[in-house]
Formats: sequence, C-alpha cells, structure tokens
Amino acid sequence: MTEQRVLFVCLGNICRSPAAEGVFLHLLAQQGLEDQFLVDSAGTGGWHVGNPADRRMRAAAERRGIHLPSRARQISLADLSHFDRILTMDEDNLRAVRSLAAELHGRPDLAEIEPMTSYCRRFKASEVPDPYYGGEQGFEHVLDLLEDACSGLLESLRA
Ligand code: 4NP
Repeated sequence: MTEQRVLFVCLGNICRSPAAEGVFLHLLAQQGLEDQFLVDSAGTGGWHVGNPADRRMRAAAERRGIHLPSRARQISLADLSHFDRILTMDEDNLRAVRSLAAELHGRPDLAEIEPMTSYCRRFKASEVPDPYYGGEQGFEHVLDLLEDACSGLLESLRA
C-alpha cells in the first residue's frame, strides 16, 4: 500500500487541527498503521507560526492519553499538491483552502478537500467549533468530534 498523505486545517493551527493530527496519529499507532500515512496540520492564518498547540488543547488531549506534537505553521500552495487529502474544521477554513486550490485548478495532483465533520458517524455536526475563546468544555467537545471523525476517516481510507 502506498503512503497516504493527510493534512488537517483550521484557522490558527494551535487548537483544532493539531488535535485532529494527534487523534489521527494515536489511532494509527493503536492499529500499527503509522508507516502507511503521512500526517500533518496547518492553519489558514499565520499568527501562531512556530508555537506549540494551545496549553488547554494539549491538557485536554493528554487526559485522553493523546500527545499533540505539532508546531503551528501556515498552509501553503505546495500543500495542495503534496497532500492527497485535506480535512477542514469549519466553513471559513473550507472556503479559504478552496480559494487557495483555485490557483491550481485543473492540476491532476490537487488534494481532495473535505469538511472533517463529513466523517462523523456518532455526532451530527457541520463544523468543529473554534474553542479558543471559550471554556474547558469546548476543548472536550472538539476532541469528542475529532475522535468520531478520525475513526470514520481512517475506516474510509482503509476501505
Ligand atoms: P484553531 O483556534 O483555529 O482551532 O487553532 C484558534 C486559535 C487562535 C485564534 C483563533 C482560533 N486566534 O484568533 O488567535
């Protein structure tokens, strides 16, 4: 099986997409599939470039035994052809990535761009809501949604 390249995208790349990356990597490790995937995350904005994931997001993930290793970076045009699949957290991220992708219109190697919540099976949600300005419960909800979506995504990619 050739390696599949998956990129998770949110706004700041310090809360939702690093959590998605960590949850997906955790699932891959549990199933011994790490060498079949290349996994990364990025933000549509550049304010937090170089920073680790938000302390509250890391703490919530650690409580579930999930490590978030990423440092924030901003998505670039090259990501659109380097990755096979890009999963966006909300409508704004989806619009931003699609508008970047328009610059590569017609390229055969352009990534599939999809909302992360389209892989949820337990939750009925259209977005992974931004937890940055809210309380602890928001970070837990992000992880609940991402655990659901990541397991649906992995099942779909293995099929
Ligand atoms: P994220 O959350 O997009 O899930 O990383 C945010 C982090 C920071 C900001 C907004 C959203 N901010 O405005 O700084």
